[in-house]
Amino acid sequence: MASRYHEVYEGWKQDPDKFWSEAAEAIDWVTPPSKVFDANAGVYGRWFPDGVCNTCYNAVDRHADGGRGDQPALIYDSPITGTARTYTYKDLKAEVAALAAVLADLGIEKGDRVIVYMPMIAEAAFAMLACARIGAIHSVVFGGFAAKELATRIDDAKPKAVISASCGIEPGRVVAYKPLLDGAIDHAEHKPEACLILQREQAEADMIAGRDHDYAALVGAARSAGRDPGCTPVAATDPLYILYTSGTTGVPKGVVRDNGGHMVALKWSMNAIYGIDPGETYWAASDVGWVVGHSYIVYAPLLHGCATILFEGKPVGTPDAGVFWRVIADHKVAALFTAPTAFRAIKKEDPDGTFIGKYDLSTLRTLFLAGERADPDTIHWAEEMLKVPVIDHWWQTETAWAIAGNPIGLGQLPVKYGSPTVAMPGYDVQVLDDAGHPVDAGTLGNIVVKLPLPPACLPTLWQNDERFAESYLDEFPGYYKTADAGYMDEDGYLFIMARTDDIINVAGHRLSTGGMEEVLAGHPDVAECAVIGIADKLKGQSPAGFVVLKAGVDRPEADIEKELVGLVREKIGPVAAFKIAMVVARLPKTRSGKILRGTMRQIADGEDYKMPATIDDPAILDEIGAALKGHGIGG
Ligand code: COA
Ligand code: AMP
Repeated sequence: MASRYHEVYEGWKQDPDKFWSEAAEAIDWVTPPSKVFDANAGVYGRWFPDGVCNTCYNAVDRHADGGRGDQPALIYDSPITGTARTYTYKDLKAEVAALAAVLADLGIEKGDRVIVYMPMIAEAAFAMLACARIGAIHSVVFGGFAAKELATRIDDAKPKAVISASCGIEPGRVVAYKPLLDGAIDHAEHKPEACLILQREQAEADMIAGRDHDYAALVGAARSAGRDPGCTPVAATDPLYILYTSGTTGVPKGVVRDNGGHMVALKWSMNAIYGIDPGETYWAASDVGWVVGHSYIVYAPLLHGCATILFEGKPVGTPDAGVFWRVIADHKVAALFTAPTAFRAIKKEDPDGTFIGKYDLSTLRTLFLAGERADPDTIHWAEEMLKVPVIDHWWQTETAWAIAGNPIGLGQLPVKYGSPTVAMPGYDVQVLDDAGHPVDAGTLGNIVVKLPLPPACLPTLWQNDERFAESYLDEFPGYYKTADAGYMDEDGYLFIMARTDDIINVAGHRLSTGGMEEVLAGHPDVAECAVIGIADKLKGQSPAGFVVLKAGVDRPEADIEKELVGLVREKIGPVAAFKIAMVVARLPKTRSGKILRGTMRQIADGEDYKMPATIDDPAILDEIGAALKGHGIGG
């Protein structure tokens, strides 16, 4: 079948208002929008400016009350605890309504913020949906972040309440969340009024009288009483959530998502991009702490009336490299979406795919990969093993859905390995040189999107229009800067090659090397430092830190290196996967004092590099090479 992509993309380009107003018909509005886009509102315009709606209603009630009540909505599958439970749309509505009633009892109102700091359990999704139900704004913080990261988010979002659990479970260890939460609240200037804590049997949390409340007791009572505050109508432009993502400094950026545009774009994507019909099972093996989890574990599949899977486990080791196939077979998954790193982990454990033959994978039609560059080797292996199309697609926390992809529902386009294929309708993607001029096909440059961004993309950063403009809009006037570099070929296929800022991608997790440098610089013995991302076979990249000690420090270097590794783990969290720190005598710099991080990375990755013309002292590069060799890194 010929793909309808070109026709649909052109249709959008000719008349974006018509395209998005048709897509908006798939949403149940309290008051349908009379206008699709207002170019004069907000920083660069706002979508569906006078629409009134409720996201929870569209994700839950509409299906629960409209013929899908007994259909599975959310499947919690937890190999790490050996439990599984299926919630129908009716069950989901009961859980979410009860929790919403409890939140309302705690004084949470429309527009209030609620931080959700939870492991991968069904209650994390209930918490997000319950906030949406009463018009509160959730901000989910990934469970692998440490207390300080949580504190930064508490101070920025100023939540009235926090919903958390006593613990998360990682292979071989129970991660007690409550001490991290208490530490974060102690550390933060802003103090949430209430914490709702789900006690898990693996670790009982100590409760603080007056502030902490037991989730199971309060929600259980509300559920038994059949309480439901109902769905609060909100403006399409009101925030649904804030999701913090790494910026160039240690202070993360609060990406704001609206209600109306978000629903329209996500609902549209489910069939057009993923080729999924309502009633099918869709599985995004990610975490609710990341944007993939927000969009494709919780909101999009539920808006579309699918069953979604919330998986508490790892691709390997829980219990083995066959767990993904077991989940697909058990729940008849039609589409799997995960990060390439998960497949690299499976391939490493089970290169011949011996586990695959043990399961019935006949329901699986497509594998989608995103979160980091999908290397052709991994794609080839997955294609060979699974015998289904393997689709790379490219997006960011900021966008909530794919900027570029291969739209299965519109008809698959030919695959070019190493490319996430073409711009999706809504995105006018261009490649510019540093002066802002378009470059020729095949030439590397800054990848930008012509404004306005499509529905669901961030309208701004939380209470910070200035930082939004400065971070994304000022450098290339009229365009959104993705901060990814790459090129477009003559067929319009995009190739995403590298970040243009100091963000690195570790196992599909987006991290700021600037944030890690701030932590290293806080060590009393450190005079200056640099953190770079070096190539890692499994995780794509992993961070490595170089520090110069203050004059007069004569403690053993190995002790200091160990302390630095511990410090990043304590301040940012284990998810930073910061395991390499090395003391060096000097850092390579330009004559104007800029650290040559790019050249250091090339040395670490064993790449050929050109001696930077502006280097202050070329001999330092040899010292860096020797230090890396001393740690078993580099060619
Ligand atoms: N809570 C607490 N700690 C967490 C955590 C969480 N939610 N998630 C990860 N961590 C910890 C891990 O336990 C690990 O700790 P350790 O240093 O004590 O071993 C550390 O953070 C690094 O975790 P991770 O990067 O996940 O590495 P890993 O070696 O444990 O697992 C993979 C490797 C490839 C299996 C794993 O990274 C993976 O499943 N990746 C998929 C990524 C993904 O879904 N990304 C989302 C974008 S789509
Ligand atoms: P995050 O905001 O965590 O989703 O990370 C977004 C960043 O991850 C992008 O800006 C890219 O640098 C990278 N990324 C995500 N998906 C892809 C992909 N398919 N190919 C290449 N890079 C990707």
